[in-house]
Amino acid sequence: MTVFRGTVLDTPGDTSLGSIRLRTEADAALVVDNGRISARGPFAETVRDHPGREVVDLREGLILPGLVDAHVHYPQVRVIGALGMPLLQWLDECALPEEARLASIDYAQQVADEFVQGLVSAGTTTALVFGSHFASAVDALFERVASAGLRVTAGLVASDRSLPEPLLSTPDRFYAESMALAARWHGVDRTRYAVTPRFSYSASEDMLDACGSVFKDVEGSWFTSHVNENLAEVAAVAELFATAEHYVDTYDRYGLVGPRAVLAHNVHASDLEVALLAARGASVAHCPTSNASLGSGRFPMRRHVEQGVRIALGSDVGAGTGFSMFKEALQAYLMQQLLGADGLALTAPDLLHLATRSGALALGLGDEVGDLSVGKQFDALWIRPVPADPLDVGLRYAASPEDAVAKTLALAGAADIAGVWVDGQSIAHHPRSSEQLLVIE
Ligand code: GUN
Ligand code: ZN
Repeated sequence: MTVFRGTVLDTPGDTSLGSIRLRTEADAALVVDNGRISARGPFAETVRDHPGREVVDLREGLILPGLVDAHVHYPQVRVIGALGMPLLQWLDECALPEEARLASIDYAQQVADEFVQGLVSAGTTTALVFGSHFASAVDALFERVASAGLRVTAGLVASDRSLPEPLLSTPDRFYAESMALAARWHGVDRTRYAVTPRFSYSASEDMLDACGSVFKDVEGSWFTSHVNENLAEVAAVAELFATAEHYVDTYDRYGLVGPRAVLAHNVHASDLEVALLAARGASVAHCPTSNASLGSGRFPMRRHVEQGVRIALGSDVGAGTGFSMFKEALQAYLMQQLLGADGLALTAPDLLHLATRSGALALGLGDEVGDLSVGKQFDALWIRPVPADPLDVGLRYAASPEDAVAKTLALAGAADIAGVWVDGQSIAHHPRSSEQLLVIE
């Protein structure tokens, strides 16, 4: 039982992007029992009602909800940062040769450690993770995220065409391996299983049918894939699926598109597809640094919001340029600015919401995490800027809490994240801050 003391910023309540409200409480106390926030309020009053508790003093800086990455590829940590290639060339020359190396369990374990480190040091506490084509490598991922304490939904990646041979499987093998992985990991600790065809371009109708079967047979599993990312990819999928109405339909016809679906990108979406996603209650993971880096296109956020599609944010490591969800949120803002009248003008609270509560809602975890209300799990991070760095200066001179959030999005990096908690348990402490973390009152 612990009390966390500090300035708490989050975005509970209304979820409409464009008008998200920031909740700010200076010198607040969050009382955490068994990982759950049981009370919150002004510090002095709240500790009076909860005497004898350990107090973690986080007054210097800001307390934010843990960040949520709704689309990130575990096997791609080592290929972050490639420039100058569109999607299909980047897959062929950069991502897929690296993903083939995860056939080695030793290699996969090392990459899984690097991946976990990437998430934790970025302050990401919840993620929907694209796994590997190899079941042994997916086990390595689940082992590592479970021991780190992260809240991760992930699965075996399915493909049976269009990719290098070592990455291919068959529908029967995919079904059997998926069911075995789900039996080991779905609902264990904070992990859940996600059915993960790479994209329709690399999955036959039989493979997508097998995906539909796993999705049906693993109760409460999630579905994730890519859709409408790049024009050449969209054209290739249209040729492969001559009878499909559109790209979204290639998944929908196998029962995969519903409230437990998160589709990444959807940059080149038709109105019909956006309407179908809205009707199904599915979510889109917007991956702005990836879309810019691969030159995939400009995400029509306004159309998604106007038609009622839930949007979350994904780093899309390794096409995305790193694990920082602050950077993704900022890039989402920049891209909408560049769209001019077609863009959606996003505020700092909108962006914080995109990086936290939007993701929690897309993952069906909106009652558990995403903000720091009473009843939620204490998944949180502590922003404590490097002294005298621009973020430190910026926060000291911030004109308002909204301004402090904007400055954090623009300037915060891993060195400014001084602590990360999941279910009230510390999963990362920056060495610079450990000595003053615990105060017993
Ligand atoms: N489409 C299919 N595979 C991938 C991938 O690894 N990254 C991105 N950005 N798009 C994909
Ligand atoms: Zn991706």
